[in-house]
Amino acid sequence: MILTPTMTGIASPDPLQHAFKVKSAPHAGRSGSRPVFLKSEQWQQWWQQPSQATERALYIHIPFCRKRCTFCNFFENGTNPQRINRYMQRLTEQLKIAADTPLVQSQPFNTVYVGGGTPTDISSDEVKLLGEAISRFPLIENAEVTLEGRLNGFDDDKWHNATANGFNRFSFGVQSFDTQVRQAAGRFDDKDFLLNRLNQLSQHPSASIVIDLIFGLPGQTLDIWQQDLQAVIDSGVHGVDLYQLIGLSGTRIDHAREKGKILGTALSEYQADSQARANMYASGANHFESQNWQRLSSCHWRRDSRERSVYNSLAKSGIEILPFGAGAGGSIHGHGCMNARDLKQWHLAHDEASTALETASVQAVQAPSFPVQVPVQVPGMLMSPNPSASLDAIFKRGLDGGRLELNLLSSDMTQHLIPLFSAWQTNGLATLHKNSLALTLAGRFWNVNMQTGLFEYLAENPIAATQETTSQSLAS
Ligand SMILES: C[S@@+](CC[C@H](N)C(=O)[O-])C[C@H]1O[C@@H](n2cnc3c(N)ncnc32)[C@H](O)[C@@H]1O
Ligand code: SF4
Repeated sequence: MILTPTMTGIASPDPLQHAFKVKSAPHAGRSGSRPVFLKSEQWQQWWQQPSQATERALYIHIPFCRKRCTFCNFFENGTNPQRINRYMQRLTEQLKIAADTPLVQSQPFNTVYVGGGTPTDISSDEVKLLGEAISRFPLIENAEVTLEGRLNGFDDDKWHNATANGFNRFSFGVQSFDTQVRQAAGRFDDKDFLLNRLNQLSQHPSASIVIDLIFGLPGQTLDIWQQDLQAVIDSGVHGVDLYQLIGLSGTRIDHAREKGKILGTALSEYQADSQARANMYASGANHFESQNWQRLSSCHWRRDSRERSVYNSLAKSGIEILPFGAGAGGSIHGHGCMNARDLKQWHLAHDEASTALETASVQAVQAPSFPVQVPVQVPGMLMSPNPSASLDAIFKRGLDGGRLELNLLSSDMTQHLIPLFSAWQTNGLATLHKNSLALTLAGRFWNVNMQTGLFEYLAENPIAATQETTSQSLAS
């Protein structure tokens, strides 16, 4: 059996700080998939076929931001009202077309996520337009519908239009409440504005307000981080995500480091190393859990049951996600797909399809068998179905949630993984019970490295395909 430190971590008196050197990547994954090409006729057919999914989601991407924050590489296009309006008109038109297709109508949707970029940068009228387009989809009762973004520019008008048009969850990036840390990171507002606004919005009788914080930002000491954690409680929000800063290439921080410069003031020179970040994670987990907040995943906590985090937890289970918009990712009929980010190409595909449709509608008068209209096939990447998708979803959801239920795996698979699980136990990352593997606090901090390590272990030590089945697929 091949076991390496990148799979197991290393033995250390302090696994939280030293089990691995650095967080390997934002997410772990493996894929036995390969790119596939889908002909236009097949694309048409896909939208006529009912879905086989039992749970599914809709993901809508809004690729605009007012400013490029120093730490982030999600910035795609600058905010410009005309440019956004043109995009929103096209996008909502496509959503309406999709909503009438057999693929969409065949099964209800559990959750919708409007992500970005900064979706809250769209105008109040566009929020309404988007909410109306989403309401044409068959949603389960009380489906979670999230609008992502930031508090800056999200005025009362937008908020009222959002809550009146079906949005019931709001995920705002705060990153840090500390005014100086924020300025160095290229954020607009100060701590008082954020606290007041979050307090106001959290008074809503049913909407869930959640925020993202990052630990490890330039200038963010442990002391500042502890004030950030207390500010979360004081803000009245219903949930929080704590993300470790990942040194993404192409960010402004990355460019400045290459040139040996500091962004912001001399205070921003401080940057927590991996060990200091481990302590920041631990103080975050202890802070919320000591105040009876419930942990829903390794990085997400909720104040009470109003916050459900349905999209995030289902997305990790590999469910069907219909993607809309330039840069949106998802999966259709078991095929992973990623729409290209390039806005020009995205518009071009729609313009060409409109012209073709005009010609076709003239023909349809002469030959009325023209098929039901389907959304435009935009440039992007499409993958063949991942043969181990259901198994990978069990690993990802289990390790991310802090507990892997072993009875979801076949007994052959559990036996095959015991050397890895035992090494994790020896290294202080997990505790092996009869029917489950529970991650320690250190394991939860390093869970993405553990997921990556597990996939590497399976690649180096393949198990016969017949034994890879989950106990669910054995039962069915
Ligand atoms: C797609 S961004 C949208 C956030 C929103 N536009 C805003 O400005 O707050 C979603 C989240 O990714 C996280 N994120 C972005 N860059 C990151 C990085 N380098 N490391 C860790 N988390 C990051 C941030 O917490 C952010 O709120
Ligand atoms: S944090 Fe938000 S606003 Fe800033 S660049 Fe990233 S997506 Fe855009």
